[in-house]
Amino acid sequence: MIELEGIGFSYGKFPVLRDVSFRLSEGERVVLLGVNGSGKSTLLKILAALEYPSEGSYRYRGREVTRKMRKEQEKVLRREIGILFQNPDTMLFNPSVYEEIAFGLQEIDAEALDERVRTVSELFGISHLLERSPLKLSGGEKQRVAFAAIFAVEPRLLLLDEPTANMDPRSSGWLVDFLQEQEVTTLVATHNLSLAPELGERALVMGENHRLLYDGPVSDLLHNDRLLLEANLLHRHRHRHGAVEHSHYHLHDWS
Ligand SMILES: Nc1ncnc2c1ncn2[C@@H]1O[C@H](COP(=O)(O)OP(=O)(O)O)[C@@H](O)[C@H]1O
Ligand SMILES: [Mg+2]
Repeated sequence: MIELEGIGFSYGKFPVLRDVSFRLSEGERVVLLGVNGSGKSTLLKILAALEYPSEGSYRYRGREVTRKMRKEQEKVLRREIGILFQNPDTMLFNPSVYEEIAFGLQEIDAEALDERVRTVSELFGISHLLERSPLKLSGGEKQRVAFAAIFAVEPRLLLLDEPTANMDPRSSGWLVDFLQEQEVTTLVATHNLSLAPELGERALVMGENHRLLYDGPVSDLLHNDRLLLEANLLHRHRHRHGAVEHSHYHLHDWS
């Protein structure tokens, strides 16, 4: 479905992605890990064709994705790839939750649209919010609404950028269960290592040097302390228990 070959990207003179290559097949569930600033969000934006790589090539379903791609290919991409941004505020612009979800569904008739909005809001547990203004919701609710709006158009590929960042534990649990029930291809960015095995079977790890450090099973990654330390997903940490102090490896999951 996706083929990235030697992708490079910079903001001005600051490189954010260096020589990143991987493939993604239809139906895969992949977790994209890496500390803040390693380039995860930028990589997702490139996959959604919101940014274009300065080096290397990106093919989506066999066709090269470039700034100059044909309009009809761009339309296919926009329809098939759903991206949920890290900050839901940047995605919500309709006066009500109902209109937010209906926004991408303009091509179907009014009755089917209403039915779809209601089904999706039930699925996302936001039926009680339909009349509310999206901007006045809590962070976790906003993220659900933004996700519902993307999901409503039935994307083929879902790119989720730190989807649990604003969610409480119950909502994060809901999201994990929800994603496990879906057949859609997903790539989920997170810096939360303990969520990784819940979100996919395969992990991609971005290093602080903006290179892809790892591409393989999540289960192997979790046993690879050397790599986790290199990616700064694991820290050596001091603990104090009364008068006793010791140190051991520690996950940083304070999101
Ligand atoms: N629009 C932008 N302009 C300039 N620099 C940016 C922009 N977006 C991100 N960056 C920088 O690019 C680097 C990678 O950012 P990002 O892709 O958001 O990483 P991550 O999602 O892993 O935290 C960071 O150093 C960030 O400050
Ligand atoms: Mg990010």
